[in-house]
Amino acid sequence: MKLAMIYSFLKQDLAKIEEAINHTIQAEHPVLTEASTQLLEAGGKRIRPVFVLLAGKCGDYELDRMKAVAVSLELIHTASLVHDDVIDEAELRRGQPTIKSKWDNRIAMYTGDYMFARSLESLSELDDPRAHQVLSKTMVELCLGEIEQIKDKYNTDQNLRTYLRRIKRKTALLIAASCRLGAIAGRVPKHQENALNDYGYYVGMSYQIIDDVLDFTASEAELGKPAGSDLLQGNITLPVLYSMHDPGFKQKVNALFTPEADANSEHLQDILHIIQTNGSIEQSLKLSDHYLTKAYESLEALPAGRTKQTLKGIAKYIGKRKS
Ligand code: IPE
Ligand code: IPE
Ligand code: MG
Ligand code: MG
Ligand code: MG
Repeated sequence: MKLAMIYSFLKQDLAKIEEAINHTIQAEHPVLTEASTQLLEAGGKRIRPVFVLLAGKCGDYELDRMKAVAVSLELIHTASLVHDDVIDEAELRRGQPTIKSKWDNRIAMYTGDYMFARSLESLSELDDPRAHQVLSKTMVELCLGEIEQIKDKYNTDQNLRTYLRRIKRKTALLIAASCRLGAIAGRVPKHQENALNDYGYYVGMSYQIIDDVLDFTASEAELGKPAGSDLLQGNITLPVLYSMHDPGFKQKVNALFTPEADANSEHLQDILHIIQTNGSIEQSLKLSDHYLTKAYESLEALPAGRTKQTLKGIAKYIGKRKS
């Protein structure tokens, strides 16, 4: 089943959010408008707005309030991708040249900043100070996650704990915040708001683990960006961490990280082949499933109904996603 089928009843509201995003990013400078529009029009799953809306559906759902939050979350996410592509030196995103490759790093820096600012502008429509505290804390954590990743590049001595802390910061907390902010906008009772936040956190952990697995298992066509680039960039993700329990494999990775190593060498192909066949992918999927089980459990605090079913359906989809 396609992701959009799972939440088809949100289609009209999502279309309004799309319109609002396009409206929000219009700038007085053509480069900012063009760069932002290109990335938004290139696609993207818009999963964070979906979480916002579904959380709001658990309470008093008023479209204008939901829209302000959903636009804000998608823009934060998009801005973080623009900056992420600078850090990761990525050439393709959503099947299109990245902003940093089409223009340059400086334009990407300011386009990202611009989108962050527009995101805050959209959230300012909400008069609840807690919403702003949640978002600012999340943004601080996101920065910490990305900076930790830079610090830990090429470090083959890192462990599972550092990996989990990093993906929590760079991905899971933003998805948790999407759920919590949707709940705040919908004035959802506190215990359900907390449950939604937990659901978002667990789903978010799984989401990044799957993203990291797909980097080894999916094709460029499926991902809209080249596969296999994490390791080449020195980003040590879960399948590599598991594989490094074998000291021989760890030595190979260290050798790949020496300046003389050639990116297209047989050496890299050898390493990728080992990861794809040594069970580390299955082990990673198992950890993703563990988080998804916790996500389902968090939903127990919600009343039975379409919203809960949809949140379950999305968690299930995430565990099996191919793009
Ligand atoms: C990509 O996020 C970055 C991660 C947090 C894994 P998405 O997979 O949600 O990207 P788009 O928005 O659909 O392109
Ligand atoms: C997620 O990490 C990026 C952010 C949370 C900003 P990745 O670097 O793995 O994302 P992709 O693979 O480039 O989409
Ligand atoms: Mg990246
Ligand atoms: Mg990255
Ligand atoms: Mg990735």
